Amino acid sequence: MICIVTGVSGSGKTTIGTLLSKKTHLPFFDADDFHPGTNVEKMSQGIPLTDHDRMPWLQHLANKIQDWEKSGGAILACSALKETYRQILHAVPDILWVHLQGERPILEERLKKRQNHYMPPGLLNSQIDAWEQPDYGLHLDIKDTPESMVNIIIEKLRLKSPNSHIGIIGMGVMGKSLALNMAENGIPIAVYNRFVVGKEEHIATGFAATNKHFPLLKGFDELALFVQNLESPKKILLMIPAGEAIDHQIGDLLPFLQKGDILIDGGNSFFEDSSKRYDYLASKGIHFLPMGVSGGEEGARKGPSLMPGGNAEAYELLFPYLQKIAAKDKNGKACVTYVGPQGAGHFIKMVHNSIEYGEMQVIAETVHLLRYGMKLSAVEVAKILRNWIAEGLSSYLLEITADILEIQENEELILDKILDKAGQKGTGNWSISTALKYNTPYSPLFEAVTARQLSANKEERTQLSKEYSHRFRAFAGDKVLLLDHLKNAFRLVRIINHETGFDLMHKVSSSLHWNLNFSEIARIWTNGCIIRSKLMEDLVAIFQENPSIIHHKPLVGKIKEWKSDLAYLIGLGLSHDFALPVMSASLNYLLGRIIEASSANMIQAQRDYFGAHTYIRNDDPKGLAKHTDWLLLKEKHQNKDNAL
Ligand code: 6PG
Repeated sequence: MICIVTGVSGSGKTTIGTLLSKKTHLPFFDADDFHPGTNVEKMSQGIPLTDHDRMPWLQHLANKIQDWEKSGGAILACSALKETYRQILHAVPDILWVHLQGERPILEERLKKRQNHYMPPGLLNSQIDAWEQPDYGLHLDIKDTPESMVNIIIEKLRLKSPNSHIGIIGMGVMGKSLALNMAENGIPIAVYNRFVVGKEEHIATGFAATNKHFPLLKGFDELALFVQNLESPKKILLMIPAGEAIDHQIGDLLPFLQKGDILIDGGNSFFEDSSKRYDYLASKGIHFLPMGVSGGEEGARKGPSLMPGGNAEAYELLFPYLQKIAAKDKNGKACVTYVGPQGAGHFIKMVHNSIEYGEMQVIAETVHLLRYGMKLSAVEVAKILRNWIAEGLSSYLLEITADILEIQENEELILDKILDKAGQKGTGNWSISTALKYNTPYSPLFEAVTARQLSANKEERTQLSKEYSHRFRAFAGDKVLLLDHLKNAFRLVRIINHETGFDLMHKVSSSLHWNLNFSEIARIWTNGCIIRSKLMEDLVAIFQENPSIIHHKPLVGKIKEWKSDLAYLIGLGLSHDFALPVMSASLNYLLGRIIEASSANMIQAQRDYFGAHTYIRNDDPKGLAKHTDWLLLKEKHQNKDNAL
């Protein structure tokens, strides 16, 4: 969408253009800034430009206009006095021309007030003489206020706006934020929300009305009108709760869709449901893209991390839009990639959330140890976390934790007023069931979910804590040393938490032949999402060399060193009555992976003893299943003892 504001000097093109840009979020350009040096020189000497002087400048602007349109639109302020000039600027079919007109005394008055402008007021006459009145576009009188002129222009832009390129269904927080993100990035967007009498009335139209300054945003309360407004192939993003609501919405949409149309599920659906929906929709010729979206409300509005999977052909059509709205990594590349077939996008998001659960829980455990084990104030803890961030341990979750430890309301820490019952919406449980299904150890996440479950029993906890006289006991000892142990323990738990998440992806990817690219997945998680961190940035390189973090040779030395810190810390914490579920589970997981002679021989012996489940001898090179008649041997053993 291109809007060109014309008029002679002093008509207020820049004022109107910048205000319009502020309200519509389309970028503003002043044509004067594109004059070649020779023209600027002439103008500053008061020499009027000839048509010949203007030609290369106009041509350059015409090229720019084509570029601007491709990148979502722009507002250009340009005197464009003659029709021939305007024809050159007409480089794209759809331009809104806004002509600012005013009486000479107002223009003279304004020019007199200007400072530091190379256009001497004397040139006004030649401009007024050159002005050729166009019989198209919007003609506005500069006597009016800039505010009301801009409102008129926005209304006109809205009416002119083409069919929407993308439609969003569901005006919850995420749907609304993504819609504004798209509109701001120059994507014509239609939004729809169901109409439920007395509960959800005029949600989408109301949302578009309160965001009138985004001319590319249209709201619909009628599904049929919403779909009709979309250009083909229709691209519809569902931002509604996971579960049956998705199937109902798909059912309602199907009569309006044609082969080749694209449905995207941007919610937190269970990936196996998404794979089934993918097959179902494929049988109807509809392309389905289950897409993980991370970053919460702020991310959705300013740049989320996007994890689309499913139909690869449809992904290509969507990519130009997705890359505009996604967060950018440190190299400026959009945090979006095609992750894999079927429900892979939702699978990846589910793993993201399980890492999120683990990260949140280990931070909670760490803060607890700092506040009640080391007896530090919330502000002191925040300071320590900020130091860790500065020392390379930065992560979004650690940053918001430091904020939470500082933010007060009525001089009280809000954190201490929050009931300690943690909620959850399901992705944690799904991750556990998936890990079990794919035979993948996932204990840190399991413990993070269990900790939330235990936290929910507030009444019982309160009662039992009295019966057991439970209270945290503060640690004795050198605080500096303790802090060092804690920092290293924290680093290691984070590594293990990420290791388990990526290991699950590895197992599922191999089993379902999804060919997931772990380095690329880590890259799209370096910004926009909840688990963005310095560690994630390191993982981009690590996964280029290795599918597993703990196999990464340069880290082995560090992990060995931090293992002792973690063991020390867990011992200290548990013996002082702190629950450290994720820390403990992480160390057990690590030891379970690196131990050569495990205790599992005892398990095998017991299984064979009571159930003849057989075992393999470690001195049998063939690895054959063997059963021992344990009772017979026991009898022999007893007889031998008796004989002695
Ligand atoms: C994100 C989050 C988000 C998730 C919430 C709530 O990446 O933006 O993962 O998608 O829904 O964090 O999850 P729980 O309610 O299960 O904690």
